[in-house]
Amino acid sequence: MAVGGSLAVQGPARNYEGGITAFVVITCVVAATGGLLFGYDLGISGGVTSMDDFLLKFFPSVYHKTKDESHHESQYCKFADEILTLFTSSLYIAALVASFVASVVTRVYGRKISMILGGLAFLIGAILNGIAMNIEMLIIGRLMLGVGVGFANQSVPVYLSEMAPAHIRGALNIGFQMAITIGILAANFINYGTAQIEGGWGWRVSLALAGVPAILMTVGSFFLPDTPNSIIERGHHDEAKRMLQKVRGTENVDYEFQDLVLASEAANRVEHPWRNILQPRYRPQLVICTLVPFFQQLTGINVIVFYAPVLFKTLGFGDNASLMSSAITGVVNVVATLVSIFSVDKFGRRGLFLVGGTQMLICQIAVGALIGLNFGVTGEGSFSKVEANLLLALICIYVAGFAWSWGPLGWLVPSEICPLEIRSAGQSINVSVNMFFTFIIAQAFLSMLCDMKFGLFFFFGGFVILMTIFIFFFLPETKNVPIEEMNRVWKAHWFWGKYIPDEAIIGADPEK
Ligand code: BGC
Repeated sequence: MAVGGSLAVQGPARNYEGGITAFVVITCVVAATGGLLFGYDLGISGGVTSMDDFLLKFFPSVYHKTKDESHHESQYCKFADEILTLFTSSLYIAALVASFVASVVTRVYGRKISMILGGLAFLIGAILNGIAMNIEMLIIGRLMLGVGVGFANQSVPVYLSEMAPAHIRGALNIGFQMAITIGILAANFINYGTAQIEGGWGWRVSLALAGVPAILMTVGSFFLPDTPNSIIERGHHDEAKRMLQKVRGTENVDYEFQDLVLASEAANRVEHPWRNILQPRYRPQLVICTLVPFFQQLTGINVIVFYAPVLFKTLGFGDNASLMSSAITGVVNVVATLVSIFSVDKFGRRGLFLVGGTQMLICQIAVGALIGLNFGVTGEGSFSKVEANLLLALICIYVAGFAWSWGPLGWLVPSEICPLEIRSAGQSINVSVNMFFTFIIAQAFLSMLCDMKFGLFFFFGGFVILMTIFIFFFLPETKNVPIEEMNRVWKAHWFWGKYIPDEAIIGADPEK
């Protein structure tokens, strides 16, 4: 069964002229800095919320609880605390709500404006957090950071996918994920440094430094051009054509330009992108923009990103060993993302998803078994040195599996499969589902560990089986397909084909 779909059924997708220009690369690098702010945020809160001075100032009850040696809890339950996790996860709820507003801004005013607004909101959040005198300032700052993330994650992946020529769209889009992983790693190192600051203000430095990626993104986006797709969407055809010529480095952009115009005309006939995406002809996009982010979070990756130090401590690693181990997983995350940049347009999205999924599953089963054998259900036990090293190695292989599959592809695939008329709506479903489940995992992990114990790893493993099967049957290959010609891929797919009407295929030659 040709589950991967084939282009043959509807004729070949067209090749546009123009290659990789320095202009497009620089533009995409600048835009990808949007990922830095998301990554910095993912990586910074875990460390800050474990700093004594921070806890004493804002969450004294939590501080006293962690210092209270009088009652002995199981290892698995040592760190469970709802108020503190609510502080971490509130940002993701703000991002969720903001992504809906961002979707309108992105469609009506362009991708660039959305990026600038995202950077500014993030900057305000960083300042408020850095100078926070009370819990209100802290929370409002947190919410502003969330607004920034909502705007950036809505606009940057779409921007990258629209700017890129089809044959390197995967690689350029993964610049976003690359920036996320660099942001996480930078945050880990910064926390490590600021935790050593005497005088109780180290956490302020950690939180205020979020201003750096914010300034980079705001100033960077200010100089970025908008995408040709977005310029056409707003009715400026001549300007869009000039921009397309500049981006592609050739005068001869007629085919691509005509497809963009046709896509835009189709989009203009649609008055309500939200109602629209519910129509049967957009069923594949609706399902994929919902399930991909859901599955991405259910890989369990953020257990590692948010709680690696806590997890390692829970398993008996010392303070320094825990921080060092988390830093190692952070480096693996960055390096393995590079692998996907170089392979995504060659081997395709499906190959990476299937390999990464299998790799994660094997590691999850092994990690669950290793912890189960040593700590059982009582939570009493310890690791030998060899076992501790084995655990760290398994977690690194798991992180690498994520970093070349669900990490980058979770942002790439939803941004490249939607036709223009539902692109912003599809992307905000993607962002909001992602944020919602990031929130749930951040909020629930510590009590899940307490309740499910080592079974937690089997729980996430079960989801990895499901998502890998889903990809195998329901995600056609989208590498090298021009973004406005994606409907051909759906039409050729064994399952989704029946939802796509013939007139949804763009492809008339401009001469005809
Ligand atoms: C995910 C984040 C995750 C990060 C890890 C991103 O793609 O959306 O939730 O923390 O990858 O690198």
